[in-house]
Amino acid sequence: MIKYINEELTDIDELESENYTLELQNLRDKYKDSMGFENVERSIEELPILLECKDRIKEKFDLVLVCGIGGSYLGARAVTEAVKGQLFNYKSGLKMLFLGNSLSSNHIKEVMDIAQGANPCVIAVSKSGDTIETLISFQIIRKFLMEKYADYEDRIFLITNQKSGRLKNFKSAKECGFFKVHEDVVGRYSLLNNVGLLPMAIADVNVEQLLKGALDYKRYLKDVDLKDNPSFLYALSRKKFFERGKKIEILCTSNPALEYLLKWYVQLFSESEGKHKKIIYPNYLIYSQDLHSMGQFLQEGPNDIFETYINFAHNPIDYKVDLEEINPYYYKDLREYSLNLLNQKTIKATKDAHLKNDIKTSEISLDRLDEYNLGQLLYFFMASCSISSMLFGVNPYDQPGVEEYKSIFKDIIR
Ligand code: PA5
Repeated sequence: MIKYINEELTDIDELESENYTLELQNLRDKYKDSMGFENVERSIEELPILLECKDRIKEKFDLVLVCGIGGSYLGARAVTEAVKGQLFNYKSGLKMLFLGNSLSSNHIKEVMDIAQGANPCVIAVSKSGDTIETLISFQIIRKFLMEKYADYEDRIFLITNQKSGRLKNFKSAKECGFFKVHEDVVGRYSLLNNVGLLPMAIADVNVEQLLKGALDYKRYLKDVDLKDNPSFLYALSRKKFFERGKKIEILCTSNPALEYLLKWYVQLFSESEGKHKKIIYPNYLIYSQDLHSMGQFLQEGPNDIFETYINFAHNPIDYKVDLEEINPYYYKDLREYSLNLLNQKTIKATKDAHLKNDIKTSEISLDRLDEYNLGQLLYFFMASCSISSMLFGVNPYDQPGVEEYKSIFKDIIR
């Protein structure tokens, strides 16, 4: 099972544990209507229809255009790239492109040029059904499909709420063209629902295993004491780091395929917690890439940072490198290094170096990078973020700041 390791976190005594249990229970009662992300069982029940739709899409089309932003975008891309690799679209088979996350004509044109030469369909994802970036990109694609294909309605798939918003107006009579977003599931917590699962399944992510991992971790949390609960320990560590002046959290990995997972974490924590002035600023770095840029900043810049490393213990893919020919200084007893071993040494060197600038580190540890472990990791982060926000005294499930931007923007373009 996933572990959270912070060697500096001292044991929590009985009384402290009882107090936290009570406090969190009260807050859970308060926010229960927004905690639908915990209902993994419901996602499992709904899976057969989603998988049937996935099969139809894969059979009929060779390009899937996914329109969405924020929580209606990042999760699907995060898991797809983590499992299938950043370069998944270069492999044979169906391609998937994301848009709606910017209003860049350049990006949209690039996508449309590709769509011209393909056999595309579109999945538009928006819980509110009213997000302007999503609607604009959807409208451009919809027009294109209408002009080019008589069966354009069969090429449109919507994931949105059933009651309000403009997106649902484009619902066709086709059975599998519409998936609902449950009221109790908040955008950035929605990747284990239709919102994330449909695009992931189309990209051949094993969503059954993903949900199994999440469910097993959820069940594990039920049986474990609060003082051994990894999500709680991570949340508590963040709070303690913050109280000691560490105001910035950097989530780190040495696998670039996790970049969008880290972006999802940034979105999850910043939208959930960023509601008063004294709060952790979440960000991410990818090593070695960023050791040759931000590494300098961490080494000699302000030391109000703590790093959280994501570590997978086993990686079946491992290149061997003969170091002797490229640099004789290094070889000693380590003449033939594997890249996995080199990565471990890099991380050790990074932690040791950063500690010299009092950058504290802790680790989220998993067995391997596969769907089952990712399911645990996603649920771990969502549970941690909920607890952490509650410990900081903010509502984890609203985003009034984002809504503010959305409403000003709508007024401006009215
Ligand atoms: O987490 C959130 O609620 C937000 O990031 C939303 O996901 C984002 O604003 C997109 O909203 P919608 O799904 O309504 O289009």
